[in-house]
Amino acid sequence: MIFEQIVDGGCQSYILGCQGTRSAVIIDPSQHHLDHYLGVVAREGLRIRYVIDTHTHADHFSASRELGKALHAPVVMHRLSPAPHADFRVVDGDILRVGELRLRALHTPGHTRDSLCFATEDRVFTGDTLLIGGTGRTDLPTGDPEALYDSLFGTLLKLPPETLVYPAHDYKGRSHSTIATEIESNPRLQMRERADFVDMMQHLNLAAPTHLTEALRTNMSGGKTVEQLLANASASISFIAMEDLAARVASGDLGMIVLDVREKDAFLAGHVPGAAHLPRGQLELRVNKDLPDPTRRILVICEFGYISTLAAATLRELGFTQAIALDGGMKGWREAGLPVAVGAA
Ligand SMILES: [Fe+2]
Repeated sequence: MIFEQIVDGGCQSYILGCQGTRSAVIIDPSQHHLDHYLGVVAREGLRIRYVIDTHTHADHFSASRELGKALHAPVVMHRLSPAPHADFRVVDGDILRVGELRLRALHTPGHTRDSLCFATEDRVFTGDTLLIGGTGRTDLPTGDPEALYDSLFGTLLKLPPETLVYPAHDYKGRSHSTIATEIESNPRLQMRERADFVDMMQHLNLAAPTHLTEALRTNMSGGKTVEQLLANASASISFIAMEDLAARVASGDLGMIVLDVREKDAFLAGHVPGAAHLPRGQLELRVNKDLPDPTRRILVICEFGYISTLAAATLRELGFTQAIALDGGMKGWREAGLPVAVGAA
């Protein structure tokens, strides 16, 4: 069996394959490791047959959609998954054949409605249903402590005791456990009565994971993260350095249209001398009137340099192929002690 565990903070993902045929799957990939997975696939000469998400993650950004596209492999999730990019939906008992390997899907709702575990040979990939010394939480969207009780005591813990447990998370750097060890020492599994277990799960008072909304939004819809949006925008434009713009201001000839896209109050309080004002919110509606010459170089400025990046990328999409942004924003400009004009342009 080809097996590689990729650890990222508390998140664990897996590449699992058949030695003889080089067919493989990727389980619970995260966007931080996109290049890592592709590197392992190339190094080992693997053909990825499926990219699997054990459930809709609320705590990291799934890379399954990108990997599925890049590797021409279907994204596998449970039938109840809300993700439109899940193009292969399984239910309890379905078997995925990966070369000589057989991966059996176990529907284990509780942490989420769409939670799956996958059992193969000597091991089981438990997603967030069973963790080492813990279980997935049940207080996030579609969580259900009663269902988790059934999934654990009725399904997972009935696997052979020596089965290796590979979860989607471990925050203490442990790579795996066994069903027997968990039954014996996992504190949550000592609550063997349904009512006790449910009561415990309902009173954990856990903090919400960071990026909860953004992770759910992107993982449920296949949409983009803000970070991806900015990365794509900045890769589609070029930038001008602050010193370069300062020299142009000093010479009295900007040589380009300088467009400040902040709100009116911020513009009036201080802008680059010679800059025109066109707030980001009105950009698309006013470009034709305010920027009649699409061949002119247009430098976009905002407060921190993010909005201007997005705005310059939008201008390029609209056909202003010379749109660029200031590397840094007005904040950096003021902090560098560069000249500022106050009031209307
Ligand atoms: Fe999760």
